[in-house]
Amino acid sequence: MRDTDEIKEKIDIVEFINERVPLKKTGRNFSARCPFHSEKSASFVVSPDRQIWHCFGACNIGGDIFSFVMKWENIEFPEAIVELAKLTGVKLTNRFEGNREWDTRERLLEINHLASEYYHYILTKHDVGKESRKYIEGRGISDKIVETFGIGYAPKGWRNLETFLLKKGYKDEEIEDAGLIIRGSHGWYDRFRGRIIFPLRNHRGQTVGFSGRVLDKTAKEAKYINSPETSLYHKGSLLYGLDATYENIRKTGFVVLCEGEFDVLSSYQAGISNVVAIKGTALTEDQLRLLKRFTQEIRLSLDMDLAGDAAARRSIELADQFDFTIRVVVIPSGKDLDEGIKKDEAGVKKAVKDAVPIYDFILDSAKSRYDRNDPFGIKQIARETVPFVIRISNPIVRNHYIKKLAESLGVSEESILEEMTREQKKIRSSVQDEQPEKLTPDKISRKELLEKHLLSLLIQSPNPTQSLQFMLKNITIEDISSNPIRRIVILLKDKGFSDTKNVDSYLADELLDTYNRLYLEDLGVIGNDPKAFEKEFTKTVYTLKRLFLRRKLVLLTTKLEETGTKEEKDEVRSISLELKKIEEKDNKS
Ligand code: CTP
Ligand code: MN
Repeated sequence: MRDTDEIKEKIDIVEFINERVPLKKTGRNFSARCPFHSEKSASFVVSPDRQIWHCFGACNIGGDIFSFVMKWENIEFPEAIVELAKLTGVKLTNRFEGNREWDTRERLLEINHLASEYYHYILTKHDVGKESRKYIEGRGISDKIVETFGIGYAPKGWRNLETFLLKKGYKDEEIEDAGLIIRGSHGWYDRFRGRIIFPLRNHRGQTVGFSGRVLDKTAKEAKYINSPETSLYHKGSLLYGLDATYENIRKTGFVVLCEGEFDVLSSYQAGISNVVAIKGTALTEDQLRLLKRFTQEIRLSLDMDLAGDAAARRSIELADQFDFTIRVVVIPSGKDLDEGIKKDEAGVKKAVKDAVPIYDFILDSAKSRYDRNDPFGIKQIARETVPFVIRISNPIVRNHYIKKLAESLGVSEESILEEMTREQKKIRSSVQDEQPEKLTPDKISRKELLEKHLLSLLIQSPNPTQSLQFMLKNITIEDISSNPIRRIVILLKDKGFSDTKNVDSYLADELLDTYNRLYLEDLGVIGNDPKAFEKEFTKTVYTLKRLFLRRKLVLLTTKLEETGTKEEKDEVRSISLELKKIEEKDNKS
């Protein structure tokens, strides 16, 4: 048996996914809101019989337990199989040697690991690290924190790290792929020089990139530089500190989200150990998805102007869509957590504890900036707050804030609702501008939809063998116009339905995908009611039969127009008219 099959035999996909994404039974399958995109409806479906999953929403992807783990953990196949093998106690026979992509990834991780050890050694032990040690000390960071976060120092000079890694047996091209050296006109040189180094680790603790800060703030170069996007490092999916803090995030029930490396270090040192940083970028969907695994609540401590900044608004809206509770940490003094803690540690801790609900914060912030006794002031406050209120996805929370806003402005709730409607129209028209046209069902041919529906019914039938027989009595397989559906029906006819699990062995991958999708399609009430099912199935078979007959008739008519006698033509015409009448009646009923 293949390793993958052995693992699959030992683990139930429904149980496995349910531990991560709570599933609800719907008919014969299970469903939930998709964990891979934000949505309101439950378009994520898992099948216990076929041990597969599929998202029918924006993702429109699916697969088996391996593809789920890959997506969930954001890892490659070899990592996923190792993880599931561990979980199930299966001994792997195939070591994945010769998998080039995997080998490259491993080598880049090794390079990063060695580089971080090198930098760390320079900072903690080497003579040339003296100045950097002083700097770290000056910022009040303890040795323990330096260890925990693996902080280092990249010495001045052009080829220190390169030389070190070459000696270790790595090639310039690989070191460049890791983002650590740059190819110039005079050869390669180190990207990070004369900077404090922060290894950027993913939540599994693997170093995927680096950031470096200058020691001297008056220096001409950028205060921070970061690894470029590499096959390992994706700026938008990294949360600095998460590898050290995710357990505490789970324990405390929330995450403190801040801006920079030093904010994380200082907070952690002060005992605020459930903290991560987004490193000065806007919050992305990938980051929110990652956080969602550990907590439901985010407490923001960002430098940006939460009420006014468009990027901040987008971040808040996204977090709301992911169903996070969002609060704001209002620190008593200082521009960021790091400064705040230096000035008033107890005050910052209290601010974290008493974080304010985001919408209260936004309302208060607007109120403090404009005059509520002035009609233009009121207008400004409404302008700033309504776009937030409108995006609150929970209707109870939304209504609460509509009321609150109306009260604090001394206007009626109706006028707030009116303003919301206006804003909504604006949003809608801009959304329409942005989104490419989707292929709506009525643009796909009716025949193809019916064929899909028929196959979906057939393979989910309480009695598939009998359903297939009935179908074949009425429909000629060759008439089915969709190529994959025709091929699947032919195979089902030949192999039968003895075991739905074994279709994997005879359906080609591209067919299996279609099959799985249709297998997971929600049939609604029909799925649980054999009588209703039979009615629907019969109706679908007959509708398709009529469509096929009509097409044949049209073909024959065209042929007859060229060669037939007048009588023949008349007869065909009258049959065609009659058929049309029946169809019209049918469509009305
Ligand atoms: N940042 C960056 N590249 C820059 C500037 C900033 O990647 N050129 C990121 C860093 O992670 C930085 C964060 O954005 O920590 C916030 O930037 P800023 O507020 O300017 O710096 P501080 O975090 O206050 O940095 P420090 O305390 O070291 O002065
Ligand atoms: Mn700072």
